Amino acid sequence: MAHINPNFKKLPGSYLFSEIAQRTEAYRTAHPEARLIKMGIGDVTLPLVPSVIEAMHEAVDDLSRAESFHGYGPEQGYAFLRDAIVEHDFAARGIDIASDEVFVSDGAKSDCGNIVDLLDIDNVIAVCDPVYPVYVDSNAMAGRAGDYDVEAGRWTRIHYMPTTAENGFCPELPETPVDVIYLCSPNNPTGTVLSFEQLKRWVDYANEHDALIMFDAAYERFIVEKDVPHSIYEVEGAKRCAIEFRSFSKTAGFTGARCGYTVVPKELVRDGVSLRDLWNRRQCTKFNGASYVIQRGAAAIYTPQGEREIEQSLAYYRANAETIRTGLSEAGYQVYGAVSSPYAWVKTPDDMGSWDFFDQLLDRANVITTPGAGFGPSGEGYVRLTAFGNAEDTAEAVRRITQM
Ligand code: MLT
Repeated sequence: MAHINPNFKKLPGSYLFSEIAQRTEAYRTAHPEARLIKMGIGDVTLPLVPSVIEAMHEAVDDLSRAESFHGYGPEQGYAFLRDAIVEHDFAARGIDIASDEVFVSDGAKSDCGNIVDLLDIDNVIAVCDPVYPVYVDSNAMAGRAGDYDVEAGRWTRIHYMPTTAENGFCPELPETPVDVIYLCSPNNPTGTVLSFEQLKRWVDYANEHDALIMFDAAYERFIVEKDVPHSIYEVEGAKRCAIEFRSFSKTAGFTGARCGYTVVPKELVRDGVSLRDLWNRRQCTKFNGASYVIQRGAAAIYTPQGEREIEQSLAYYRANAETIRTGLSEAGYQVYGAVSSPYAWVKTPDDMGSWDFFDQLLDRANVITTPGAGFGPSGEGYVRLTAFGNAEDTAEAVRRITQM
């Protein structure tokens, strides 16, 4: 008789963004006349830039000819993309990362979820609270999270680190030992960033305690503030304690095309084993590489023309973030983030619960947001708005909310 992984039975009903999609669909069915504006899931709306499209077309043509056809590619990614990543994302910032420490994939979400294959079941996992749900759910699926306490909205074996306005959105170092620490900067969902000094404290802590940092830098391209590291490897000693996740989704509109990468430095060793070698072993077994066409498209963003084009898209989303931040702040809302990030983290009025405010925004402003409570207990009392919509809709959503 086959038995299922019992940890799946412990998971709460559905993944956050599926739950929001269901609620929105129910509302749409009941109110077919409503013109809803989506500011919930962080999905991009601008098309892929011309350089990327051109490179993908050429790659399709490559596949049409025997002499340039590509079958299975390297599981780690093609050298043309890994080399471009190293040169532009790291060497250009004075960071010494080698191509064989870069693993191209179909996106940061997959890598963040899959990386837990490398972890011992007994590791204590620390996450910021609120938190991108993938870090927690993937560990819960592996049996590392304990049980889900529905009342408290938290897992019994996960170490939650409140990351709130009260501590300037920088989690305190844990007082009890933890083994694996997830950090995300610019942060999803709060839209805030960790300064160089703040990140250095974590790197030092991890090296002192032989802990491991999972650093999610998916929103790195949105950083405009000075003194904010674009990579954890800007901090001395990080190569001995950190894995970094990057994504082309928000950088270059690849949410549908799917491409990202993970850096696992050779210096990163635990229990006498190289994590780079383990991740390579894992990927070779379970993954056949991102598609050739998509990798060609991703490489095009590192050409001078591609770089200029994605910068225009990023500027468009940054302007939306500014519209949300200034519009809602002027109307009296407390707004965090949305400076070096496409996310605005907005305090609900009168301490209203975040699902209640979500419902109110949906019903009275026809604006879809993400309730903060869905990201963890400390997200209660907030909603998250994304800047990835089109500019007119973003301005209209802000107008509707402020007039509500
Ligand atoms: C989000 O809205 O938090 C993200 O778009 C979800 C994701 O990247 O998986």
